[in-house]
Amino acid sequence: MHDIRLVEVGPRDGLQNEKTLVPLATKVELVNRLSATGLSVVEAGAFVSPKWVPQMADSAELMRAIDRRPGITYPVLVPNEKGLEAALAVGVTEVAVFGAASEGFSRKNINCTVAESLDRFRPVVDRARAAGVRVRGYVSCVLGCPYDGAVDPARVAEVAASLMAMGCYEVSLGDTIGVGTPGAARAMLRRVAEDVPMGRIALHFHDTYGQALANILACIELGARVLDGAVAGLGGCPYAKGASGNVATEDVLYMLNGMGLSTGVDLDRLAAIGEWISAELARPNGSKVGRALAGR
Ligand code: HMG
Ligand code: MG
Repeated sequence: MHDIRLVEVGPRDGLQNEKTLVPLATKVELVNRLSATGLSVVEAGAFVSPKWVPQMADSAELMRAIDRRPGITYPVLVPNEKGLEAALAVGVTEVAVFGAASEGFSRKNINCTVAESLDRFRPVVDRARAAGVRVRGYVSCVLGCPYDGAVDPARVAEVAASLMAMGCYEVSLGDTIGVGTPGAARAMLRRVAEDVPMGRIALHFHDTYGQALANILACIELGARVLDGAVAGLGGCPYAKGASGNVATEDVLYMLNGMGLSTGVDLDRLAAIGEWISAELARPNGSKVGRALAGR
């Protein structure tokens, strides 16, 4: 049992916004390489409408092609029953439903209101659990929405608690556009933790304004123990204008190592993958730690 569980979302959140289609072989290689770093969770893809997110259209092929290592889970996003069915057909063991704390983002991202999304998720969670598949829940825009602006922490808590009540084992709170600062992150987490046990809460920070590590530290100090990140700081959400990459997993890991908090993940291996995938995508490595370790 490690102090902190890192959830690697690079292959999904990191790649979903890439403009040019990433070859399937590269995606498979990315997932397989990440599986050899000590990570216990590698979010691999999304069973969403290919019209909405073309980059994720090959998630079924990806799930068939990767080496699924024992002890590692490879969750995929599912927005509805159609997505769940396709995910079950390739033998996934974990899925994630994704809602929002703001109406504007919910409409743009999944084309329905927050209440409608929760009604839509309920049968998805029921069916998944009946099939022995665990379900994670995401809440987006927990510290601000690109369409509606400020978001009330009480609303975040309400949506998070609804996801838990319907049977999710964990909720991941997403600062989708990376606007949060430590005070706001702390206040939001404190409020959610009134309704959801701290051990069931993950934090999912994007680093648009360079605040992600500070926010993570603030949340760890409150007792948070599950953190999402993307290798090389890949990513962005196609339905959140201005959203840049996730916090780089290497940067989070370097900080945790320095604090003496164990994760079981090998920093040098992870950093090498960050360098490799950045070169494959012909983009600068978004991890400062990755660049430093590479001597650049
Ligand atoms: P819609 O247009 O309202 O849905 O989209 P629909 O039911 O009317 O279906 C439209 C078409 O999509 C139909 O095809 C369906 O069959 C098909 P047509 O008849 O036109 O040929 N379809 C599907 N195809 C494959 N798989 C499916 C599926 N469902 C419908 N599962 C819908 C509603 C939810 C489907 C759409 O809005 C969608 O797919 N949205 C996904 C958007 C997305 O993936 N966003 C990024 C992930 S969220 C995120 O990044 C935030 C997060 O990282 C946390 C954070 O940072 O805060 C998680
Ligand atoms: Mg995200």
